[in-house]
Amino acid sequence: MIALLLVVLTACSSGSGSGSSQKTIVLGTSADYPPFESVDATNGNNYIGFDIDLAKAVAKQMGYKLKIQNQDFNGLIAALNSNKLDFVMAGMVDTPEREKQVDFSKTYYNEYQVVLTKKSANIKSVNDLKGKKVGVQLGTTQEALAVKLNKTIPMKLQRWDKLNEMAEAMRAGKLDAIITVGSVAYGYTNKDKSLEQFRALLNGKPQADPISAAFPKGSKLKAQFNKALATLQKNGEVDKLVTKWIKDQK
Ligand code: ARG
Repeated sequence: MIALLLVVLTACSSGSGSGSSQKTIVLGTSADYPPFESVDATNGNNYIGFDIDLAKAVAKQMGYKLKIQNQDFNGLIAALNSNKLDFVMAGMVDTPEREKQVDFSKTYYNEYQVVLTKKSANIKSVNDLKGKKVGVQLGTTQEALAVKLNKTIPMKLQRWDKLNEMAEAMRAGKLDAIITVGSVAYGYTNKDKSLEQFRALLNGKPQADPISAAFPKGSKLKAQFNKALATLQKNGEVDKLVTKWIKDQK
């Protein structure tokens, strides 16, 4: 009996189950940023969005199982560097400052920074942000832009941990405007016609916000990721996901 039990146990643990011999990689994200990543309203344990689908497709292509860990955006790079995560996809931009701490994949999507506001607030350009309550997500390129704008257009800057909560606060009138990117803003302006968005210019220039995946410095996963990404770009998978998730960008 014991021998039989051992045989059964060994069979179970040796990975004969579906795909259990595959290694798992852990994706870190900040699921407050539709259409890139958000919590599925119908099932609170599910993460959905362009980054999530792309991460799944890339992981599959690389031969890994994917585990998703959700946390605030501002802590993602620290979590990568303390080996809690294997990679990050969170609408994250490859900046020179971040490159000192982590490695980035090839860019997989291009965005522009925008101001999202209520039509009734009469904010038509970044100059109109003067003296206004403006929200930015903590630790983002939007915070960096706002800090630059603030030098010539002094505003009342507020830093929020979560983009979705900040957008709701603006809708509720607690903020005059927020700075985010085109497709994220469009998720709100498309649903709520009392809102509008326009490109946030710095010294008259549009501000690109190109998105890459991040890895701990020296991670071998980065090259595998870029290879898998290139395959999915060639075979049209990435375009399909763009069409599925991203409705507009300004
Ligand atoms: N693109 C900006 C950055 O890299 C903001 C990204 C915010 N992402 C999120 N999942 N909330 O800093």
